[in-house]
Amino acid sequence: MQRIFKNMFFNRSFSKFTQKSFSEFQRKVELPKLTYNYEDLEPVLSRDQVETHHTKHHQAYVTNYNKLIEQLKEATEKQDLEKIVSLTPHIKFNGGSHINHSIYWTNLAPVKSEFPFKF
Ligand SMILES: [Fe+2]
Repeated sequence: MQRIFKNMFFNRSFSKFTQKSFSEFQRKVELPKLTYNYEDLEPVLSRDQVETHHTKHHQAYVTNYNKLIEQLKEATEKQDLEKIVSLTPHIKFNGGSHINHSIYWTNLAPVKSEFPFKF
């Protein structure tokens, strides 16, 4: 019964969907380059903090996401529905974390020598 359901699912809708749609978002991502140097955010954020957060923390999400995308491609080619479903929350977590961190970096800017307003 499970096999019949699986075959129906893949044959009728999933295979068409996966052929086109999965290729759209199965692209690997890269760690974005920052528009400032790691030390430019001192003294608010130390060079080590920013560099570690970028090259270790954010990079881990990028690396994990890219590995998961490879696994998703394989699972899709094999039509392994259980594997696809099991990968989904991990792809969501690592992909979402990559996006959130990419936005985070754009919300930081080097400290100006003076505040633009008085307290
Ligand atoms: Fe972080």
